[in-house]
Amino acid sequence: MTRREQIKNAYKLTGGHAGFYDGMMTYSTIPGKASGKLLEVPVGTGVLTMPVYRELPDADITCLDYSENMMASAQEKAKTIGIRNITFLQGDVGALPFEDESFDIVLSLNGFHAFPDKDAAYRETFRVLKPGGTFCGCFYVRGGCKRTDWFIRHLYQPKGFFTPPYETEQSLRRRLSKLYKEAEVTMVEGMGCFCCRK
Ligand SMILES: C[S@@+](CC[C@H](N)C(=O)[O-])C[C@H]1O[C@@H](n2cnc3c(N)ncnc32)[C@H](O)[C@@H]1O
Repeated sequence: MTRREQIKNAYKLTGGHAGFYDGMMTYSTIPGKASGKLLEVPVGTGVLTMPVYRELPDADITCLDYSENMMASAQEKAKTIGIRNITFLQGDVGALPFEDESFDIVLSLNGFHAFPDKDAAYRETFRVLKPGGTFCGCFYVRGGCKRTDWFIRHLYQPKGFFTPPYETEQSLRRRLSKLYKEAEVTMVEGMGCFCCRK
């Protein structure tokens, strides 16, 4: 069987059992369920994660952000959806108010391009993660998409949404594999997506 046929067959199977695939992707069935302690930093308005957290009743979730205004919107969403296993904290990723090795998962979506002290952010997210724990997320990486680079330099950076220096794909790979036992990086145009094991 060719590689293409193999891939098509695999998806034929999950397509036929959409309940299994859908449940896994939305964390609503046993193969997709996560438990343990999860830290999300920065949570922002929670637009991407609150719908997912609704499906994780067994997890102990902590969300942190520097901006109380952004986080107020995430808190509102959590309340409306009825998520109870969640704590919100205002704070700085560069000085996390947690013990060493206290989380199973640290999730960081669209944060590192905004953080002012990136070394401190990498150091702190590593420190609070348990050995064997997962650090994953995504953020803007320079050089993957010229149009994105232009918008960031001319619009978002002057307004304070983005803060240089930015990683390149190579520098991100180097940095994560120096810190973590395993580090996977996937580029989607100007976005670096990563999943690391401590
Ligand atoms: C682009 S938003 C991303 C929010 C969310 N993760 C998302 O993907 O929608 C960036 C967030 O980083 C937060 N932030 C910036 N500097 C921070 C810091 N030093 N510590 C914690 N959060 C910070 C901002 O307040 C903002 O909410």
